Amino acid sequence: TYLGIDLGTSSLKAILISEDQRVLAEHSVPLTVSRPHAGWSEQDPAQWVEATQTAIKAIGATADVSGVRGIGMSGHMHGATLIDASGEVLRPCILWNDTRSATEAAALDNNPKFRALTGNIVFPGFTAPKVAWVRNNEPDLFGKIAKVLLPKDYLRFVLTGDYVAEMSDAAGTSWLDVDKRDWSDELLTATGLTRDHMPRLVEGSEVSGMLRDDLAQAWGLPKGVVIAGGGGDNAASAIGVGVVKKGDAFVSLGTSGVLFAASDAYQPDAASAVHTFCHAVPDTWHQMGVILAATDALQWLSRLTGQTAAELTADLGALQAPSQTLFLPYLGGERTPHNNAAMRGQFLHLDHATDAKQAARAVLEGVAFAFADCQAALRSTGTEIDGALAMGGGAKSEYWLRVIATTLGIPLRVPEAGDFGAALGAARLGMMAATGAGVEIATMPPIAKTIDPDTRLQSAFAQAHDRYRTAYKVLKDI
Ligand code: XUL
Repeated sequence: TYLGIDLGTSSLKAILISEDQRVLAEHSVPLTVSRPHAGWSEQDPAQWVEATQTAIKAIGATADVSGVRGIGMSGHMHGATLIDASGEVLRPCILWNDTRSATEAAALDNNPKFRALTGNIVFPGFTAPKVAWVRNNEPDLFGKIAKVLLPKDYLRFVLTGDYVAEMSDAAGTSWLDVDKRDWSDELLTATGLTRDHMPRLVEGSEVSGMLRDDLAQAWGLPKGVVIAGGGGDNAASAIGVGVVKKGDAFVSLGTSGVLFAASDAYQPDAASAVHTFCHAVPDTWHQMGVILAATDALQWLSRLTGQTAAELTADLGALQAPSQTLFLPYLGGERTPHNNAAMRGQFLHLDHATDAKQAARAVLEGVAFAFADCQAALRSTGTEIDGALAMGGGAKSEYWLRVIATTLGIPLRVPEAGDFGAALGAARLGMMAATGAGVEIATMPPIAKTIDPDTRLQSAFAQAHDRYRTAYKVLKDI
């Protein structure tokens, strides 16, 4: 059997799979995000360690873990987890959706080497500008940094005692030469660091280390469990649903929203604000458009109205023409296509009759328009998506999927089994590392249903998307 651990932003999930990839047990532990200032988003790594222990023990209580051969890990990307020389965490991890380092990001992005070597804009959410922010604002602490780890790589350090990263997540640091799949000494130097501050690199499907004996004993696992490189959550999700070759795609409605396309070559186009990263298996890359708030936008409305996201999206019935009310989901700025950390969310065209239900519809539509902007950005790089798997917590709302399918004009395929996404991908990477299996074990799931675009409403949604784009243009500078 194999364990997959996915460190998500709002929960940590562990699953146990059999040799034939059946899910034998799963357990999730909720996590919290703290936002001490506007634009900040942090998490205490101690929370991740505790959640991992809880999840693995809970799995061990319901299933036999004595035959585990491999573990794979995935995690939310880009977070700066700063470690001192004795392996202690120096400050709360600065997360992917934290935009405090906008000034530092713009300064690094001005150095043409960054786009040339990483294939990406230096977004404020990426790791290097965060460390530059620490250097400018917490200089004492900067001086104590011995290692910079991505979130799941910190968990790996706890599990194995080794500092190791893998390509898919490392590609989101702004320090990786994404074509060569190696750290760039030049880019590290530009932020006052050296290769010594970085963990060793492996591919996601390779062995990164062994589970420590004391932990194996405490959790009832055997000795000699292999830990795979694993993947950033988006690459791991892709492995989980078999999105591994050119033409394969998924749309993910998680805390963030992602439109993801696998690719067999490194074909960056940084200016489009599309992300071009290594995949979690060798010789493979991927592109994605990333929006910062997908289900997070609905969570925001939920807090505002006192109704749960499920209540807000229940009983929406058949797909309706887009509402006059317009919502721009830029609650914490946006990455694709705007790279605008200062932009904020907007609600437009409210009238006396606007109630929570209508506001909720506007939020679902606004997120769909943001995805349509990602689709256009991907298209501008030559990447055409003609259908996609639908994943993430938000994919439970069929109404939302109809809105997205109609706005993007592509069919969305909903997998049959539960939403194991990144955790399943992580477990598969654990299996690859332990057995030497390759990408052929990353098959696509059986499809429960396909949501087709509603052709009668497609032009109405296209018009609403135009209004949405106009609204951004008009509002971004005021
Ligand atoms: C990708 C990104 C998010 C996080 C959160 O670039 O920032 O999708 O990985 O899950």
